[in-house]
Amino acid sequence: MDFSSFLDCRLRGNDIRPPASLRSGAGLSTARGEVSCFIRLKCYLFVSNEKAPRKELSTVKGLWQEYKLFWQEVWQAYHTTGAILPSSRSLARALARYVGRQERAQRILEVGPGTGAVTRWILARMRPEDRLDLVELNQRFVAQLQQRFDREEPFRKFHQQIRIFHAPVQEMGSEQKYDVVISGLPLNNFHVHEVQHILEKMFSLLKPGGVLSFFEYIGIRRLRALVAGKADRQRLRGIGTIFQELFRRAEVRRDWVWLNVPPAWVHHLQPLPDNGSVCPPPS
Ligand SMILES: C[S@@+](CC[C@H](N)C(=O)[O-])C[C@H]1O[C@@H](n2cnc3c(N)ncnc32)[C@H](O)[C@@H]1O
Repeated sequence: MDFSSFLDCRLRGNDIRPPASLRSGAGLSTARGEVSCFIRLKCYLFVSNEKAPRKELSTVKGLWQEYKLFWQEVWQAYHTTGAILPSSRSLARALARYVGRQERAQRILEVGPGTGAVTRWILARMRPEDRLDLVELNQRFVAQLQQRFDREEPFRKFHQQIRIFHAPVQEMGSEQKYDVVISGLPLNNFHVHEVQHILEKMFSLLKPGGVLSFFEYIGIRRLRALVAGKADRQRLRGIGTIFQELFRRAEVRRDWVWLNVPPAWVHHLQPLPDNGSVCPPPS
């Protein structure tokens, strides 16, 4: 589909019908044709006082609210928020890779959903028989997520398929097991023993054959270690050791995501039954 047909579809989808003359000749697949089509349609919207597409407006407003809250929490609680921006679409898609992949219904757990940037992509892959639990530490993120599932599309239509827990993941009971656990936690901000505890917890929540997917920003841990003081350097090295051993034993796939700020790796881990403890104690 060329750009002008795409614009046409968006306008039709929002019940905006500019005269055909405005669109004629716009199907030129040259950049000039596309730019001129775009300008003519924008002028039409402006002069005719048609409303801008509602879906676009609500998306922009929703995005602004999402980013505003995220930045406020980065400021208030950097240690547990641990990122400067919510995950990009590419990162979210890579994290949700194993959702909807099995024939049977899946139970999915998202750890640290924040404002719901990854949740949206998990929902997009879920089938009606799948169930999603979200566990989030931060009260303000929990409230915003709740509000999204109460009011906002596409979240609203999954209302019956989800549960939100306001708690640290470490405190979750281990009775419920999951086919897929997706983590957005900023592990590099935590103490080594905390990282080990959280990873063990997330593994203990997996069903046999289940997959844990989590991300790490490319190179940031090593970069931080270069400029950190001695204690922090040791902490980051300890986390590095845990990760290396974990990847050696259990990594089934690694995705490189360049379209994210900063770029990230997504690690997909599947512990084998004879793997012993997947998380070696820190040295
Ligand atoms: C880097 S943000 C990721 C947010 C979102 N998943 C994204 O990708 O945009 C980390 C999130 O993990 C949450 N979090 C941190 N520690 C947690 C814990 N122990 N248990 C549950 N959530 C936690 C934070 O409150 C925050 O929402």
